[in-house]
Amino acid sequence: MPEETGFGKNRYHRLQVADVIVETHDSKSVVFTIPKENEELFSYKAGQFLTLKVPYDGKNLIRCYSLASSPDVDSEHKVTIKRVVDGRISNWINDDVKPGDFIDVMPPAGIFYLNDGDNDVVLFGGGSGVTPVISILKTALKKTRRKVKLVYANRDEQSVIFKEELAALESGHKDRLQVIYLFDNVDGFLSEERVIQEVTGHDGGEFYVCGPGPFMDTVENTLLKLGEDKRRIHVERFVSPPDPEEAAAQEAAARAAVSGSTVTAFEVYLDGETQEVPYESGDTLLQSMLKAGIDAPFSCEEGMCAACICTVEGGDTVLGNNEVLSREELDEGLTLACQCRPVSGPLKVVFED
Ligand code: FES
Repeated sequence: MPEETGFGKNRYHRLQVADVIVETHDSKSVVFTIPKENEELFSYKAGQFLTLKVPYDGKNLIRCYSLASSPDVDSEHKVTIKRVVDGRISNWINDDVKPGDFIDVMPPAGIFYLNDGDNDVVLFGGGSGVTPVISILKTALKKTRRKVKLVYANRDEQSVIFKEELAALESGHKDRLQVIYLFDNVDGFLSEERVIQEVTGHDGGEFYVCGPGPFMDTVENTLLKLGEDKRRIHVERFVSPPDPEEAAAQEAAARAAVSGSTVTAFEVYLDGETQEVPYESGDTLLQSMLKAGIDAPFSCEEGMCAACICTVEGGDTVLGNNEVLSREELDEGLTLACQCRPVSGPLKVVFED
């Protein structure tokens, strides 16, 4: 029996697992059944992720997993999860989840998706970081005439996920798709020189990067050094949110830090409408909007996914945990509604249409 908690597009929906696919010795894909009445709510862009809420050891743990399926190619919603040493949820999924089980899932979110354009699409996937980039790859091949290159790094050949699917895509798009496999045990870790070699001839491309931290840093820093525009470099970083007790302690400290706030209300522009939202001291912008019944976008509520990204005009604010916005983006006025608390007004919160 499907269940729903919360409201609007941000509520969790109890989805049934339609299938569990063994991808490699240490990764599995979980395919969800989306009930007909929720198809619109669960529509997504290639590269976006699902947020899962999993009861574990008396707590609810939250994890974000990228969709490896493409909305333009695949009929199902599929996330692929690789085991992580001591990873409670990744191991639970790999060991225990089976078809017919139910998992609480929030509709797709995220800002890591294919931008419009006709420039080359250059994808870097490291390990299970290939999941959002294969989604983008499939959509780029299906919906555009753009050239696509995937640089896919793995520990060794046995760890390659989607090997057959990629081989089929390559043979079906010989003129437009190139896949380069790198193996740590043969090629070593990705180096600046190797990034330069792989991006040569793709200047001005749209770059998408997902994988382990050092892998992403190497690609991003090299592209910036080469003079590529940072607005065309898209990096997806996933960090596990803290456990509930730790999150509660962080929230209490953040509330105390803005106890002298003089703000009693702020304006919100969302979906073409401007509304006034009452503000109670200590709340985040997101908490205030949700209390006011505004269906603002969010997912992790931990400053880690960017689903709640918005701009604040005027006033002073304090930002808590931020794992996604760069210094430049903060300077441009971008913030995370789930982590942002107003100190002084007047201020207006704007969600881009
Ligand atoms: S909801 Fe994830 S960063 Fe705000």
